[in-house]
Amino acid sequence: MTSTVIQNVIRCVPRITWSTLRQCSSSSRHAREENSSHKTTHFGYETVSEDEKAERGDIVFRFIQHVNQSVGGSTVADDTTQHSSHIHPYDITVCDISENMLKVGQQRAEAQGYQGIHWVCGDAQDLPFEDDLFDCYTIVFGIRNVVDVEQALSEAYRVLKPGGRFMCLEFSQVKNSSLRWVYDQYSFNVIPPLGQVIAGDWKSYQYLVESIRRFPDQESFKEMIEAAGFRCVKYENLTFGVVAIHSGFKI
Ligand SMILES: C[S@@+](CC[C@H](N)C(=O)[O-])C[C@H]1O[C@@H](n2cnc3c(N)ncnc32)[C@H](O)[C@@H]1O
Repeated sequence: MTSTVIQNVIRCVPRITWSTLRQCSSSSRHAREENSSHKTTHFGYETVSEDEKAERGDIVFRFIQHVNQSVGGSTVADDTTQHSSHIHPYDITVCDISENMLKVGQQRAEAQGYQGIHWVCGDAQDLPFEDDLFDCYTIVFGIRNVVDVEQALSEAYRVLKPGGRFMCLEFSQVKNSSLRWVYDQYSFNVIPPLGQVIAGDWKSYQYLVESIRRFPDQESFKEMIEAAGFRCVKYENLTFGVVAIHSGFKI
């Protein structure tokens, strides 16, 4: 890789904050305990045990792979070395309110040979970062768990540089009434019983389903992002709106 390419990438993505990292560990209960001062009726729904079970993992790692591939660099942990990560033309900060979550993520990153990641314990509603620092802020299945969503959006805006991009992946609402009926049947009648059978935990799965229904729909969330100051806000539905990606720029 030439230095020019690296420079380009550095200019594009020198600093990225990851408000939460998919960690897929058994520590969700710890997280709830640690975060008890922030608990509301829905805060405990962060126990997305289906994520834990699926072990799909690590959006931050996928992002790093994407950056590496985009600049023609090596993918991390290639077949020959397993711990290559020769080049990491990124500067990523992973921030989560739970130390346990961070620990698991850190261990996984080390095991897979990822470097150049900063691990910071902090609250999305009061980020421990200075203003205008990051080029990109992304939050995945996290903002639904935050008590004050407006405050988290305002913090995202504050820490982004002018021109920086906010990106959020979150469960959303299925608009088509027939599909929604099917989805509701599955959500309320299948997910909690499955949670009971697989994890011995009906309640968390029931809460998960309910918290998803309570979260603002696509248009309302878009308006909240705009109210935080972001411009060019748009969203893309995935799987008929089961999840949506919202994005906006600090201009
Ligand atoms: C469902 S997990 C999602 C984790 C990861 N982003 C993923 O995609 O799998 C929600 C995460 O949000 C974190 N969290 C909840 N409230 C938070 C807050 N106020 N500030 C920062 N992180 C928070 C939890 O500790 C947990 O790691």
